[in-house]
Amino acid sequence: MSQADAAFAKGLEGIIAGETTICSVEQGGLFYRGYEIHDLAKNATFDQVAFLLLEGHKPSPAELDRFKAEIRKERPIPHHVTRFLQETGPALKAGTAVPMDVLRSAVSILAHTDPDCQSVAADANLRKAKRLLAKVPTIIGQMQNVIDGRPLVAPETGGDPALDHAANLMYLMSGQKPSPEYARVVDVSLILYAEHDFNASTFTSRVIAGTLSDMHGAVTGGIAALKGPLHGGANEMAMEMLKEIMHDVGEKGIGTKAVDDWMQRAFDTKRKLMGFGHRVYKNGDHRAPILHALGRAIAEKDTRNPGGHAALQWFRLGEQVQAIMLDKKKIHPNVDFPCGLTYFTMGIPVPQYTPIFVASRVSGWCAHVMEQHANNRLIRPLSAYRGEPPRKWNA
Ligand SMILES: CC(C)(COP(=O)(O)OP(=O)(O)OC[C@H]1O[C@@H](n2cnc3c(N)ncnc32)[C@H](O)[C@@H]1OP(=O)(O)O)[C@@H](O)C(=O)NCCC(=O)NCCS
Repeated sequence: MSQADAAFAKGLEGIIAGETTICSVEQGGLFYRGYEIHDLAKNATFDQVAFLLLEGHKPSPAELDRFKAEIRKERPIPHHVTRFLQETGPALKAGTAVPMDVLRSAVSILAHTDPDCQSVAADANLRKAKRLLAKVPTIIGQMQNVIDGRPLVAPETGGDPALDHAANLMYLMSGQKPSPEYARVVDVSLILYAEHDFNASTFTSRVIAGTLSDMHGAVTGGIAALKGPLHGGANEMAMEMLKEIMHDVGEKGIGTKAVDDWMQRAFDTKRKLMGFGHRVYKNGDHRAPILHALGRAIAEKDTRNPGGHAALQWFRLGEQVQAIMLDKKKIHPNVDFPCGLTYFTMGIPVPQYTPIFVASRVSGWCAHVMEQHANNRLIRPLSAYRGEPPRKWNA
């Protein structure tokens, strides 16, 4: 057995691929720089958490004011990015372009006018991290404006300076300022999504940064990795799956054997149920119950009728699916499952769920890029070769 075989684990399961001081993901808890996720979800704001991740410590009130002012100043996006979004409008409407791909391209071309683009120095990286954090919501907002065919919301300011990151994102997407309750729930969802150690997209960003490539490239790669349905794309796919179940069983089927039968068919065909399971958490994702409770509270009061069914019915269906999954497969929901339900209840368009994840996780990616650049070694693992034995071309 070769040295590579000895260390092989499919999907790098259980392999420690580096050191970090940013986040710890364990069965027993999720911590950002030592602060436990329930504590942060209850007592912090996303803006504070982004500061914690990027600048390394809990901000004082003065530091937070300074940080928020820096972010606000960076919210407008260059005209060439706006033009790109407008020109992509027909493809977005036709469905050949999807928001995650458009966001990925927009972030990549942001680099072209960033004065620090080619530097990997710590101060340049921090400036770029703040610009990316500030500009991603503006890109998402303008993209949604283009899709909806409305004039761009606040294109010269990137939103309303009085609004924090989450509320401003919702405002930019819709032109409507969210209620304090909605804004807080989205803010908490962003806290929960901000960071998760060496998950696939963050690891991708670190691999790119490890070649001493630049932050925009690393974040662009992170977005590409996050899009996949086994990773961040699961929040959209979880909601699409619930829509499929609702369509198949009907509202009257909720709470009945019809849902068990649907699930059994999924198990029989070995279908992966989106929003369930996790590589690290085998006894449940710490983030999921936090968001589920907040989303359900909104659904209980909801007076609108998204998708033709009362919002609470979607939660009831989701809860039944969760119970069957736990009973039959012993698999818990991950954070993407309640995220799908919660954003749907709020009327957020499904194809923007994963881009909204980016509006948060960009803080974690940038923190990791900075950590990688500060103490770099090229990330270059081995592979276990399973191909043909050595042979002659002209045999
Ligand atoms: C997250 C995920 C990729 C983790 O994958 P992993 O650690 O490689 O785990 P595996 O895919 O090997 O799953 C282990 C077993 O549980 C089953 N399983 C895991 N997640 C499942 C799911 N969502 N639906 C159905 N079965 C699932 C697998 O089929 C496998 O069963 P088997 O041993 O009988 O083949 C996986 O759980 C998944 O695909 N989930 C759905 C996508 C999702 O929600 N992603 C967001 C993650 S935060």
